[in-house]
Amino acid sequence: MELAILGYGVVGSGVARLLEKNSAGIAARAMQPALRLKYILDIRDFPGDPFEALVIHDFDTILNDPDVGIVAETIGGLRPAFEFVLACLRAGKSVVTSNKELVAVKGYELLQAAREHNVNFLFEGSVGGGIPIIRPLSQCLAANEVSRVTGILNGTTNFILTRMIEHAMPFDRALRLAQENGYAEADPSADVDGHDACRKICILAALAFGRHVYPGQVRAQGIRGITLEDAAYADKLGCNIKLLAQARRLPDGRVSALVAPMLVPREGNLLACVSDVYNAILVRGDAVEDVVFYGRGAGQLPTASAVVADIIDCARHIDRRRYQEWDDGAPEYVAPAEDDTAKFYVRLACEDISSARKQVLHAFPGAAFLEIEGASGNELAFVTLPVRDGAAQETLAKLPGTEVKMVMRVAEV
Ligand code: HSE
Repeated sequence: MELAILGYGVVGSGVARLLEKNSAGIAARAMQPALRLKYILDIRDFPGDPFEALVIHDFDTILNDPDVGIVAETIGGLRPAFEFVLACLRAGKSVVTSNKELVAVKGYELLQAAREHNVNFLFEGSVGGGIPIIRPLSQCLAANEVSRVTGILNGTTNFILTRMIEHAMPFDRALRLAQENGYAEADPSADVDGHDACRKICILAALAFGRHVYPGQVRAQGIRGITLEDAAYADKLGCNIKLLAQARRLPDGRVSALVAPMLVPREGNLLACVSDVYNAILVRGDAVEDVVFYGRGAGQLPTASAVVADIIDCARHIDRRRYQEWDDGAPEYVAPAEDDTAKFYVRLACEDISSARKQVLHAFPGAAFLEIEGASGNELAFVTLPVRDGAAQETLAKLPGTEVKMVMRVAEV
């Protein structure tokens, strides 16, 4: 069985390394005499690289080679990954990918193409890096009605938050370290602004609830603007700040999905204690109750581990399809986040603290003020009782003499 890799970046080179390092075991598990990496497609040359001789620049060489039965796409982004993957599926080649944007935006279309051409399109590496989550969700938990999936799905932001809060490292330095470790996206704003986690929760929601959720349907907020004061206020409440992605099935059959930094109570909550580049995903099913998947959510070899596992699966099932499908989405299928009810943590700048306190209590009856040592004299932090998201935002925008500095939900995991 011959293979090709599209894109020789962090993940693609990890796939090549892993295929070579564990070749005998991988071939045995794939039930093949050998899995031979034949081509690596990239626009660049890699002089001196151990796989230099395999690097080509013309995609058609791969497309037109009938001996290449499995293609690993690790280019990332939509273009040209989508055109290449679609062409491979139509040419009867199975494709595996770690490209979450591709699956989140084009997953339905590509799964349809795979079905029509009786090949496989697998994407274990697209969510959670090395954590097995796609297969467990679509196969091991298939007997359950899943009611919610909640996760820390972005390694870079979890790494940055951990460094900032636990090691007092400035944001920019923590981001640079994440980039040096190969965790961050080519454009790190995809990590920092929540888009990467958004793509991943869309994929998990599609698997859990059976219909495509498009990233444009999900409100995504990142970690910019979170300060050490926010972390200290959260700590007072017994919480850690985490960038959570959540998808829930609503009683009316719709789905509610959101990515946002939240205050996660440390007590009784595994997600609160997930640090550094680690990801964790909690799935709640009616039969199994809560299960949590935990591991390295980004990085070269953890992600390559998932991609190579998909290659093995494809090789074992070269004439058969692995079940993994969902229906197309619809605009009304995803409920607006404004309709959710939650408790909110709010930090305000205000001209006059005692007047602001009165305004807050008038607008949010039952709100509890938070105190930390060394707090700025013109800032006020509080937690509301449960309130509709949209109503909280409207009310905060109209509080006289105040400026909203940070709003985060208190997580209900
Ligand atoms: N940039 C991503 C992250 C890589 O930090 O989680 C893994 O998908």
